[in-house]
Amino acid sequence: MCGIVGAVAQRNITPILLEGLKRLEYRGYDSCGVALHVDGQLQRSRSTSRVTDLEQQIEEAHLKGFTGIAHTRWATHGAPASHNAHPHFSPSADLARIALVHNGIIENHDELRAELTALGYVFQSQTDTEVIAHLVDDMYNGDLFDTVQQAVKRLTGAYAIAVFHREEPHRVVAARQGSPLIVGVGQGENFVASDAMALAGTTDQIIYLEEGDVVDLQLGRVWIVDSNGKPAQRDVKTVQAHTGAAELGPYRHYMQKEIFEQPRVIGDTLEGVTGIMPELFGDGAYNVFKQIDRVLILACGTSYYSGLTAKYWIESVARIPVNVEIASEYRYRDSVPHPNSLVVTISQSGETADTLAALKHARSLGMEHTLTICNVATSAMVRECKLAYITRAGVEVGVASTKAFTTQLAGLFLLTLALAQINGRLTDAEEAEHLKSMRHLPVAIASVLALEPQIIAWAEDFARKENALFLGRGMHYPIALEGALKLKEISYIHAEAYPAGELKHGPLALVTEEMPVVTVAPNDALIEKLKSNMQEVRARGGQLYVFADVDSRITSGEGVHVIRLPEHYGLLSPILHVVSLQLLAYHTAVARGTDVDKPRNLAKSVTVE
Ligand code: F6R
Repeated sequence: MCGIVGAVAQRNITPILLEGLKRLEYRGYDSCGVALHVDGQLQRSRSTSRVTDLEQQIEEAHLKGFTGIAHTRWATHGAPASHNAHPHFSPSADLARIALVHNGIIENHDELRAELTALGYVFQSQTDTEVIAHLVDDMYNGDLFDTVQQAVKRLTGAYAIAVFHREEPHRVVAARQGSPLIVGVGQGENFVASDAMALAGTTDQIIYLEEGDVVDLQLGRVWIVDSNGKPAQRDVKTVQAHTGAAELGPYRHYMQKEIFEQPRVIGDTLEGVTGIMPELFGDGAYNVFKQIDRVLILACGTSYYSGLTAKYWIESVARIPVNVEIASEYRYRDSVPHPNSLVVTISQSGETADTLAALKHARSLGMEHTLTICNVATSAMVRECKLAYITRAGVEVGVASTKAFTTQLAGLFLLTLALAQINGRLTDAEEAEHLKSMRHLPVAIASVLALEPQIIAWAEDFARKENALFLGRGMHYPIALEGALKLKEISYIHAEAYPAGELKHGPLALVTEEMPVVTVAPNDALIEKLKSNMQEVRARGGQLYVFADVDSRITSGEGVHVIRLPEHYGLLSPILHVVSLQLLAYHTAVARGTDVDKPRNLAKSVTVE
């Protein structure tokens, strides 16, 4: 998704801006650009290709400057084309006074566009961002900081912006509302970015701006005002942002590497967990867990599916009712609030706009007991929630989430056990047994990874298909959903998942000899029911691709292909079964030759609504 980097320094900042963009690349983007203050003029370079091409363009044009801004764009308003790429200039490319970059969506852009067009501004792009550039130019009163404070009052929607003016060569002004933005404090130089990771290697002194903040960056000065224009004190934190995307090593793609990292990161996530106690989720968790009598889970995409899996766990083990909601729906739904809910947000990035908004909505309805399961300790989600469990998946570069998902499941299983304990539903013996199973997970996952050659053979068949169905039952139904999502995201094969018992109520009409039906078939209490559902598929000629356990008693035969996972893993079985589905999606995508780590149209961190 869109990324921002900006700098004011007394040295050439192009390497810092470009390095920052490269660090944000993994989030997904379709164009990029840099604008610099060069000898009293604004100059820019934009590209619809990769940041390395932009770098080459900048080198060829000998572009250097002490003040500037840069951006990776993920198209929302207007096609991914060079004229829509940021930075945007105002009043025009030739007479540029203002350069501006923006993350987020301006909802009243049509109205402002009409107003500014009437004033004589000629728009060069279809973006909502260009509206802000012209608005700032129109309102400019000789002081960019003051102007931006006034201009943002005219905006509705979400934004993080960074802007500079031709007449104020050592100043960048930035503002945020609904989209993340941080300030990097240097020695006599200052920076702004949408993520601290963009500044890794440049500065580790980070200020997290709050909603409504506007910041004035000059050479030796960082001055922040809040949404009321009042001076605001924000702490400077030392942040060990990752110094860069890890090396690929022997792997072909980051996604493959991340799938294979799962034994290690699950181990890391559980490191230090010597027993089940509420404090695993933060100080004060005991009191919170004591007060709640239900759980409301809010998340999007893959994280939503981890929440759905947790519903099965929490209800059956802790006996607490759980409601799982898609964040983008919940935030606008007229739901019935329950103040004794534990509101759990699940997010890999901790910056997903819909999940953050759903959290705020839940709080506005009087639900104050909030907890997040999140992979980024410094993210907005962790800052906004009272309690947190930080998964230790490490940076996930592949857009399709893999290791973040399984570490979320590990965190959610711990939450299940902690709630069960508070509820008097976990004996010491059960606790010890569950912890033993969790500690064995890395070895169990490694044995699933060893099935890769068999899965590659299936992937060859799948690569020739355009549709696939995924079936699961009980807590493996969300795993079927996740398997289908993985396949469609990276191989572009249309895939749908159903609870297997639901097939006969409609989707069975899709089953022909051409339809591969992936079935998640662990040897659990529903296995015999599932086998009947599989018969329904075979009777219509459907091709079954079954991930069974070693003792599921399903054998290969005509139209039935079986891969056996080496052990049945009880309640934690979803964590093993999803790994086989990740490998199937990955190898199918490789066989189809898609851009596995950066699938079309998708972004890693979805910071717009
Ligand atoms: C799919 C995927 C997405 C994310 C979703 C939420 O592979 O990664 O569906 O799960 O965009 O993102 P987070 O977890 O960062 O809130």
